Amino acid sequence: MNIPFSKVSITGNESKYIDEVLKSGWLTTASKALKFEQLFAQYVGVKYACAVNSCTAALHLAVEAIGIGPGDKVLVPTLTFTASAEVVRYMGADPVFIDVEYGTGLVSPAILKKALLEFPDVKAIILVHYAGQAAEMKVAGGEGILDLCRKHDIKIIEDAAHAFPTKFGDKFVGSFGDITCFSFYANKTITTGEGGMLVTNDEAVYKRAKTMRLHGINRDIWDRFTSVKSSWEYDVVEPGFKYNMPDLNAAIGLAQLEQAEFLRKGRQRCAEYYYRELSDLISIDLPICYGPIENHSWHIFPIIIRPEASLSRNEFIEEMSNEGIGVSVHYKPIHRMTYYKQTYNLNPMHYPNAERIWKGTVSLPIYSELKEEGLEFICQTIKSLLDNRLNYFFYPEEASKVHMYRKIRLDNTPKQLNNH
Ligand SMILES: Cc1ncc(COP(=O)(O)O)c(C=O)c1O
Repeated sequence: MNIPFSKVSITGNESKYIDEVLKSGWLTTASKALKFEQLFAQYVGVKYACAVNSCTAALHLAVEAIGIGPGDKVLVPTLTFTASAEVVRYMGADPVFIDVEYGTGLVSPAILKKALLEFPDVKAIILVHYAGQAAEMKVAGGEGILDLCRKHDIKIIEDAAHAFPTKFGDKFVGSFGDITCFSFYANKTITTGEGGMLVTNDEAVYKRAKTMRLHGINRDIWDRFTSVKSSWEYDVVEPGFKYNMPDLNAAIGLAQLEQAEFLRKGRQRCAEYYYRELSDLISIDLPICYGPIENHSWHIFPIIIRPEASLSRNEFIEEMSNEGIGVSVHYKPIHRMTYYKQTYNLNPMHYPNAERIWKGTVSLPIYSELKEEGLEFICQTIKSLLDNRLNYFFYPEEASKVHMYRKIRLDNTPKQLNNH
């Protein structure tokens, strides 16, 4: 069998909408991008959306729009893709890396609270909704991530590259923080090939991002070319960027947006299969889903090979690829990356959970095109590689905790969100 790690699902109006763009006489940003912005904002429940050519671009526009500059400090989880940190460096500011929770891979309110005490002068946090599950934005008693940010007067930029469509409670991610950034890269729950979206309820942030998205020009450039009454004149009010989303990509995005819940559900079906089939394997930890399973976009399904397993993470990956199964790793933490390690003299000991995750983590294939036959093959292969072949080292207490979570998930009575 050959099971790729990721496969895009094109089952809707993608070709139709692309054809409309091809016949329109204008291939880059115009009405499709505008419509994609409007429908996306409506879906998420937010006032403004700004379509761009990547989530990295959206994150860059976000830190720029809130005025992050040289000497500023911004909290960033170490378990993330490099884009979450690099945009802070684009502004000449410094990322301050923080640990994440074992099990969810998320920054928990407790971790944030500790970081805010340790670094009281940070200006903002870039919060990653790791794997497609929302961080605990609000909790009873007012000590959720959002509450803590408000209390300490720091801005919150949500890196929701993994998290569409994701809910926290009954609201979509994108409707909580100051600015939220989404990715439509080819392996995401919905894709435009390459693409991203910045959303916000703040009009000033939106206007700034919109101007900076296109060279700092004070008006939409496509209007200059497509309108019959177009005028050549425009002004440049800032040295901006070239981050606009072309209509060809937006056409795919519009079609994918129509399918978003269908695509999310297809991924959820894979996650449920994995929970059902792999929960008895004591040599791995499954990702903890702390809320209703439907709230999760299921962008990735990262399992952790425990240290007592008979195979190391790298050996496991090699065996899986020998069997034709594509897997990946999310992530080698940023504190281990040469540039950041050297620039900030980072010590892995300060990130014990991310270290423990990183040493064992493997992401399994998860996408709506992955059918029962493929899932069965993946699970059988994992079992044959790992089942009942433990090394001695074992932590009974933690294992029982993990089993508790699994049982909760399998009984379909997940731990209730303690918000609202
Ligand atoms: C957490 C995170 N942030 C940001 C990005 C950047 O997204 P893009 O490739 O759309 O720039 C990614 C990419 O996958 C990501 O995983």
